[in-house]
Amino acid sequence: MAQQNSSGAALMERYRSAIFPAVAPYYPDQPLVVDRAKDQELWDADGKRYLDFFGGVLTVSVGHCNEEITSRTIEQLQRVQHTSTLFVNEIMVEVAEKVAALTPGALQKSFFTNSGSEADETAILAARCYTGNNDVIALRHAYSGRTLQAMSLTAHGNWRLGNVIDPHIRHARSPYTYRTPLDLSPQEVVDLCIADLEELIATCTNGRIAAFIAEPIQGVGGYIVPPQDYFGRVAPIIRAAGGVFISDEVQTGWGRTGDHWWGIEHWGVEPDIMTFAKGMANGAPVGCTTASAEIADALPGMTFSTFGGNPVTMATALATIEYMERNQVQANAAVQGTVLREKMEDLEAEFDFIGEVRGMGLMQALEIVQPGPERQPDADLAARIMSEAREQGLLIGKGGLHGNVIRVAPLLNVDDATMQEGSELLARAVTSAAG
Ligand SMILES: Cc1ncc(COP(=O)(O)O)c(C=O)c1O
Repeated sequence: MAQQNSSGAALMERYRSAIFPAVAPYYPDQPLVVDRAKDQELWDADGKRYLDFFGGVLTVSVGHCNEEITSRTIEQLQRVQHTSTLFVNEIMVEVAEKVAALTPGALQKSFFTNSGSEADETAILAARCYTGNNDVIALRHAYSGRTLQAMSLTAHGNWRLGNVIDPHIRHARSPYTYRTPLDLSPQEVVDLCIADLEELIATCTNGRIAAFIAEPIQGVGGYIVPPQDYFGRVAPIIRAAGGVFISDEVQTGWGRTGDHWWGIEHWGVEPDIMTFAKGMANGAPVGCTTASAEIADALPGMTFSTFGGNPVTMATALATIEYMERNQVQANAAVQGTVLREKMEDLEAEFDFIGEVRGMGLMQALEIVQPGPERQPDADLAARIMSEAREQGLLIGKGGLHGNVIRVAPLLNVDDATMQEGSELLARAVTSAAG
C-alpha cells in the first residue's frame, strides 16, 4: 500500500474532523490526496504519478487542465463571472443551441443547473407537468444522485439515505443479464423485464404514468449493458401509458460509449428528455435537462437556479463541447475502447474470478466473483484490485450493488500510448491481486 507523507496524513485527520463521514473517499485506510493533474495524469501529495482511467467518475472528459478549455474558462472568469438567469448571458444560449444541434429528434430547449441530480429532478418535474401524471418508473440498480428525488429514483439500498422517498416512483426489473434469479438467456431476460414493466404499470400505478427514466448503460450499477432490443421494447409501453422517455446520459453522454454522442442512440430509441452533467464541462459543475419544446413549455410559472447557466461554467462547457466535436471523441472512444476491451477479455480468459467483462466504448467493467456456479460477488477482491492498481500508478473505479465491479473509464481523448500503458497497469494490478 502506498505510503502517505506527513502532510497527507495530517490533511486526512482534518478531513475526518471537518467533513461529513458519509462523504467516504476510495481506499478508506489510505485515501488518495490529490495534489495536481495534467491531461491524462494526476499526482498525489507524495508526488506519486498516476494514469487517470476514471476521470473523477467520468467527469474529466478530455484531460485535466486541458489548456484549450482552461484558457477559455479564465477568459470568461475575467470578463464576467456571474449574472444569474435574471439577466441574459449569450453563452448560455450558445450552449443550449449546441445541445439542441447535437441531440436527436425534437429535443430543443435546455435548462441548466449544477449537477446530474438536479438535471434528473428537473426532467421528472417537466414530465409530470407535461403529462399531468405523477407516477415515474425507474430501474433497479439505477443511480440518479443525492437530492431526495434523485435518491428516490436511485435503486441501490446503500445510496438511499434517510428513507425519505417519493412514493410515486416505482422500480422495474433491470435487464442485468449476468444476475438473474434463473439461468435465463439475454432474450429471456428482456421478456422477463418487459413482463415485469407491464405488470408494474398495471398493479402499482393507475395505468397512467409521467415518465420512464433510465441510463442507457447503468453506471454506478456496474456498467450494466441491456440486450439490444430492450429499450426499443420499453418505449412503446411507456408511451401507451401516457409517459415520456427520459434518457439519463450523465455517464453515457458526450461520446463515452463510442461511435455515437449519446448512449441511447445505440438502442435506436428517441427520448423525449435527456439529462447531462459530469463530462459535459470537463470538471466544471454543470447539469443540463434538454427536452422537446412542447415538454419544456409545459413547466408552469417560474423556476430559477442561482448558479445554473453560470457564464464561467457555460464557457467551460462550450469549450469542452467544441473540443469534443473537433477531436471526434466518440470515434476515439470506439477505437480505444476496443483496445481496452480486448485486454480485459484476455484477463477474463486467464482469471476465473472475472465473471463478466461488459461495457461499451470507454466504459468497461469487470465483475469480480468467487469462482464457481454461484458467482458470488467478491467485493474484497475488487477492493484489492483497486489498491493494486493504485500501487501500480493507475486510477480506476468500482461500483455495482455489492461493490464488486471494477469500472474503467479512461478519458475520451486517451491516445494509443496512454491506453497501452493503462491496459498494462490494469493487467498487472489484476495479476498481483490474484496472487
Ligand atoms: C447516471 C447518473 N445520473 C445522475 C447522477 C447524479 O449526478 P450528480 O452527482 O452530479 O448529482 C449520477 C452521478 O453519478 C449518475 O451517474
